Amino acid sequence: MAKKHKTLWELEEHSLGKHLVFKSYLNAWLPILSKWHGRLLIIDGFAGPGEYCNGHVGSPIIALDAALSHRHQAVRDQEIVFYFVESDKKRLEHLKALVAEKYPALPKNFMVRYADSSFDNAVSELLDYVEEQNKRLAPCFAMIDPFGVSDTPMSIIHRILQNPRAEVYISVMYEFINRFLKSNEFAPHLDGLFGGNEWTQVQSISDRSQRKDLLYNLYKQKLKKTKATNAVHFELFKGNRHVYSIFFATQSWKGADKMKAAIWNVAPSGDFVFRGSANGELDVAEPDFTPLIDAISKEFAGRWVTPAQIARFVGSDRTNYHSSQIKKNALKPLEQEGRLIVHPDDADKRSRRFSYRNDIRFKIPA
Ligand SMILES: C[S@@+](CC[C@H](N)C(=O)[O-])C[C@H]1O[C@@H](n2cnc3c(N)ncnc32)[C@H](O)[C@@H]1O
Repeated sequence: MAKKHKTLWELEEHSLGKHLVFKSYLNAWLPILSKWHGRLLIIDGFAGPGEYCNGHVGSPIIALDAALSHRHQAVRDQEIVFYFVESDKKRLEHLKALVAEKYPALPKNFMVRYADSSFDNAVSELLDYVEEQNKRLAPCFAMIDPFGVSDTPMSIIHRILQNPRAEVYISVMYEFINRFLKSNEFAPHLDGLFGGNEWTQVQSISDRSQRKDLLYNLYKQKLKKTKATNAVHFELFKGNRHVYSIFFATQSWKGADKMKAAIWNVAPSGDFVFRGSANGELDVAEPDFTPLIDAISKEFAGRWVTPAQIARFVGSDRTNYHSSQIKKNALKPLEQEGRLIVHPDDADKRSRRFSYRNDIRFKIPA
């Protein structure tokens, strides 16, 4: 029986990457949000049954565990609403029973809500309610993880991303798009997915990778037609076969930065490759930092800058790297090669060679 029809199924190895990145990102991001805000909302729009036949846990349990066992007390004290949406009744019942069994006494600040509904209906109702009450949606992370590409209309993703501090993490089955690109019957689904029919422009492109790049860029552009300022993606493979891609959109460069850090941290151990937003495949097992050095030099050559300014650039979706990689992998080699000059007034701010405090100014000659 296909997994579509079973209550539980096996987690395939390539899907593990999605879970590891999700977990690593929540670990990094929850304390940042907890510092600033009251209630947080975690939506799992395609929650599934919460576990797999082969012993892996599902995304709702990963989210609950990330918050419950977070090393920061502020996260454990944070008010968090977990909203689990699942349209298959048996899977939802399984999830409810599993959560009740695993967490018989959840702390009062963690509230779990379930919707026995489709993702777009449940989220539309929630957003309608918030709007009717003239309230603002809490800062929200939405995990959107369907089986195909028909149930995640861009219109509903746009509605989520119009809210302050909303972020989305979406699995997109590229092969469905590619396979049905010329099918008239499937066209309305692709219109829904992309929020318009611009995707039809790639129908005549025969080069597979060019076609994919154009569709990915279109998808990211669409995500950013909201309050989201950054969109990144990575791809999951089964052997050599590209199975699906994860897109992440956020209103904060720091969110993009943390997501890329999560991908970098996880990727070497997983069966997946990170192809970043700024094009080009990254071999995270044997990383090459030349593109990072080139991007920084191109962006900042000839003017005084600080590491903090560079971090905003590198962390954003304009590079494939994250801010923790800058000092060791770009600034130090640049200075060793004599291509980085520290501002004379800031020289005494350095405690040792090749150290880069965030307020030190330096210049990369043009
Ligand atoms: C890929 S699985 C989710 C796996 C889960 N996110 C995880 O990582 O463990 C997709 C789930 O979405 C459910 N589903 C399918 N269509 C849906 C819809 N329109 N709205 C909500 N759930 C849906 C399926 O029953 C299935 O359990």
